[in-house]
Amino acid sequence: MKLFDVYPLYDITPVRGKDVFVYDENNTSYLDLYGGHAVISIGHSHPRYVSGISGQLQRLGFYSNAIQNPLQAELAQKLGALSGCDDYELFLCNSGAEANENALKLASFQTGKARVIAFKNAFHGRTSAAVAATDNKNIVAPLNAQHRVTFLEMGDTTSLESELQKGDVCAVIAEFIQGVGGLDEAPAGFYEKTDKLCKQYDSLFIADEIQCGYGRTGDFFAFQKYNITPDIISMAKGMGNGFPVAGILIHPSIKARHGMLGTTFGGNHLACAAAIAVLDVLKEENLMQNVTEISAYFTEKAKSIPQIKQIKGRGLMLGLEFDFKVGELRKKLIHDKHIFTGGSSNKKLLRILPPLTVKKEHIDTFFDALKTILPS
Ligand SMILES: Cc1ncc(COP(=O)(O)O)c(C=O)c1O
Repeated sequence: MKLFDVYPLYDITPVRGKDVFVYDENNTSYLDLYGGHAVISIGHSHPRYVSGISGQLQRLGFYSNAIQNPLQAELAQKLGALSGCDDYELFLCNSGAEANENALKLASFQTGKARVIAFKNAFHGRTSAAVAATDNKNIVAPLNAQHRVTFLEMGDTTSLESELQKGDVCAVIAEFIQGVGGLDEAPAGFYEKTDKLCKQYDSLFIADEIQCGYGRTGDFFAFQKYNITPDIISMAKGMGNGFPVAGILIHPSIKARHGMLGTTFGGNHLACAAAIAVLDVLKEENLMQNVTEISAYFTEKAKSIPQIKQIKGRGLMLGLEFDFKVGELRKKLIHDKHIFTGGSSNKKLLRILPPLTVKKEHIDTFFDALKTILPS
């Protein structure tokens, strides 16, 4: 059987990984400054992660959400403590899109409304409502297009208020740093204003922290730079360091009822073991502190390279903007210099999303390599 050919692939076959490196079948090492699309948070095959998951597998890999699962309670307790969001409640699922789908559904249940406001260039995933709230017509099928979504410019408070005033908006969903869209953030004051307007017009504010959250900016969540209280926070990627686990944090003003949300696999024993190991390592290895230090080091080095026109993003969710398309540069980095980096819908932007364990020496390796291949 052939695979359904939806991904353009690099001709590289990683077979193992350790911390910030992956190795192919010939044992060639690649420096991973892409983290499998911002997924690898505590490093590839971290010993604590491996023992957490494999130990759990030997005891019990899976049971459904029909029984008590103390691992979910442990995960919720540790997540609340490390994120500072311990007054929120946790619903667990399996992927980023599923987290946003549940967030949007919950907002609709809670408000009794159905229209969504999202922002230009947003990416929220590929399930039905999530993809409808994604600003990319190429990935929205006619079935998904039936959702009612209005896209606004980030920063346009006037349009936001006039849309909310219509009274039919269940949710405003935002990435606090756009990932796929190219690392843009809204201008100062916009998120605070959005938070206020949502509360005023009975719409829920959903923080999509799937890519920018879980320590990646140096704060646990990227929205925590602002003085706001999102109603729902969606999480995935770094949460499981590669194990498919995701979730939403739900403000206590939203009341649960049995059957409102549900999933077969979400919050299973193995997923919880993976997510608990991630939180333990984030905390014990002070990785958010590391993010802040390495980010400052990276940014200083980037400033000394004249071909870099702009440095975007925060923490270890960074973008280097050039005045040329970076496709060839990425190919050279991967094939000649053995360094993984990312792209975005802004073709001139090189995306840097390393494991949060990355060190100064790896940043040096990257810039040394970059300098030798940049056009002068
Ligand atoms: C901000 C954001 N939201 C949602 C998603 C969807 O996550 P998933 O691919 O796990 O469904 C992504 C994935 O890149 C993302 O970056």
